[in-house]
Amino acid sequence: MSMTVTHDILIVGGGGAGLRAAIAAAEHSAGLSIALVSKVYPMRSHTVSAEGGAAGVMREEDSLDQHARDTIFGSDFLADQDAVEALVQEAPRELIQLEHWGCPWSRDPDGRISVRAFGGMSVDRTLYASDKTGFHMLHSLFQTSLKYDNIVRYDECFVTSLLIDDGKVQGVAFVNLFSGRVQAIHAKVVIMCTGGCGRVFPFTTNAAIKTGDGMALAYRAGAPMKDMEFVQYHPTGLPGTGILITEASRGEGGWLCNKDGYRYLQDYGLGPPTETPVHRKMELGPRDILSRCFVQEDQKGRTFEGPHGSYVHLDLRHLGEKLIDQKLPFVRELTRNYVGIDPVVEPIPVRPVVHYMMGGIHTDIDAKTPLDGLYAAGEVACVSINGANRLGSNSLTECLVFGARAGRAAAEYALDQPAPATNPVEALASDEQRRLDAQFFRKEGGTENVADIREAMQQTMEEGAGIYRDEARMQQTCNDLRELRERFANIRIEDRNDIFNTERIGALELDYMLEVAEVIANSALLRRESRGSHTRTDHPERDDANFLKHSLAYRTETGPRIEYAPVSITRWQPEERKY
Ligand code: FUM
Repeated sequence: MSMTVTHDILIVGGGGAGLRAAIAAAEHSAGLSIALVSKVYPMRSHTVSAEGGAAGVMREEDSLDQHARDTIFGSDFLADQDAVEALVQEAPRELIQLEHWGCPWSRDPDGRISVRAFGGMSVDRTLYASDKTGFHMLHSLFQTSLKYDNIVRYDECFVTSLLIDDGKVQGVAFVNLFSGRVQAIHAKVVIMCTGGCGRVFPFTTNAAIKTGDGMALAYRAGAPMKDMEFVQYHPTGLPGTGILITEASRGEGGWLCNKDGYRYLQDYGLGPPTETPVHRKMELGPRDILSRCFVQEDQKGRTFEGPHGSYVHLDLRHLGEKLIDQKLPFVRELTRNYVGIDPVVEPIPVRPVVHYMMGGIHTDIDAKTPLDGLYAAGEVACVSINGANRLGSNSLTECLVFGARAGRAAAEYALDQPAPATNPVEALASDEQRRLDAQFFRKEGGTENVADIREAMQQTMEEGAGIYRDEARMQQTCNDLRELRERFANIRIEDRNDIFNTERIGALELDYMLEVAEVIANSALLRRESRGSHTRTDHPERDDANFLKHSLAYRTETGPRIEYAPVSITRWQPEERKY
C-alpha cells in the first residue's frame, strides 16, 4: 500500500550539502514547503566524520586568485574555472556564516580564526574546529535547519527511485525503514545530496552508508555522470578499517616514514625534508601524488607488511603531547581505540584508502542537472571544482557553497512551476511497490549471496580501477562487473521482515553500487592518458590534445555510453603540473 504527500522542494540526503540546501531554500521563501529525506538520521550523515577542515581565504597574505589557482593546478586543469572562481569567492562568507550558526572555529591567541596547512594549498587557509570539523559543521547546520517550520524531515527513509513523468522529475519513491512500506512524495523539484560511493572499493574512509545511491538514482533516470574515472585515495587511512587519519596531522607537521624510518617522499621530487611543513612539498604534496609514492615505495620493498597488507608510518611523536591534544585530539582517540597506539609515543600505521569521488552527477554552476527538475550538490555532484584531483579541505566548502546555490536555484525553479493539474505520483509509487516486491522483498528462489557479490565487486574495483591502472586490468574489471550484474539478478533475500530489514537495504545498496562501479570502470577504460588521480601505466602522460575534456556517462541497457564535454578555462591556461 502506498501513501503520497506533496512538497515544493525535496532534498535527498541530510548531510552538509543537503542541510545547507534546505536552509537556503527556506530562507529564500517561507512559503515553500521543503522535504528532507535521508536514509539515516541527519547527524549520522558522513559529513560528521570529516576531520581536517574547510578551505577559504581568511588572511591578508592569501588571495582568492591564489586559492583558485591552487585548486585548478591541483585538479590537473580539469576543473571548470568559472565554478572554481564561484567557490573561492563565496567560501569566506559561507564559513563566517557558519560560525554565526554556531560552528566553533578554532582561534589563534590574538582572536583571529585559525587556519592550518593542507596538501597542495600554497598558504595556510584551512579553517578547522580542532580535528572534529565535520561534526561541528553538521551540528551547526542541523540545529539551524530546526529553526525553519517549512523544512519537514523524513528520517530513515531509503529512496528507491526518482519518479519521472512527461520528461520531468516529479518526486521520489522510498521505503520507510520503520514500517517497510513503500511511499512516495510528489515535488516540483528534487535536489540530490547523497554523497559519494567509496564503498564500491574494499578499503575506504567512507561510512557504510556511502553507496552511491543518488548517483545511481540520477543515472537511471537519464542524467549523465561526469568524470567518474577520477577516484581519490587518501594517503593516510588505518589499514583494515580504512578509518581516516586526517591530513591535518601532516599539516601540523607529521612525517611519513618507510620501514627504515626514512622520509621517503624526498625520493619522489617532493623534497627536501624540513622540520616544519612546506606547502606542496613532502607530506603536504597532493593526495594523488602521495598515494602513488606509497605504491612505488611498496614495490621497492620498503614498506611494512601487516595482516591487512602493506603500510608505512605516520610519525607525530616530534609534535609533542600538548600540540596533539590541542589540535589532533581525535587522531589520538581514534588510534588508541582502533589500533591500540598512542601517537604521542608510537608512529601510526597508515596506507592509501579510497576517500572521495571527484566525479558525480553532471551539474552546471547553479547545481542544475540536464534532467528537468533535478539539482545536485556536494560529493554526489560534479560541478566541477575538483577536476582530476581534489585538494583536501575544499569539499566541506563545496558542500556549503554549492549546497546553498542548489537551494536557492531550486527555490526559484519551484516558484516558477504551476501547481500540478494531476498527481501522477500515486500510480508511479504503486509501480515501484510492485517492482521492489518482485525484485527484492517478495522474490522467490535465488541462490546468490549479496555479501559475496559485494566483495567480488570491491576486489575487482581495487584491481582494475585502483591507484595504477592499465587497459587489460580495466577491461577485466568491466567484464567482471557485467557478470556480477547477472549474478545479482539471482540474489536470495531470506529475511521477510518489514521492519528495519537491513538485508533488503544491503541488496538495494549493492544494486546502486554495481551501477556506479560500472560507470567508474568504463569511464576509466576510455580515458587513455594519465591525469590527476587517473594514472595509467600504459598511457603515462597527460594528453591535453585529446583529453582536456570531461567524460559524460549515459546509461544504456548494454552499459555506459561515454561522451565528452569541454572544460571551462577562464584565466589559467593549462601547464605542466609540477611540485
Ligand atoms: O584528511 C582530512 O581531514 C580530509 C579532508 C578532506 O578530504 O577534505
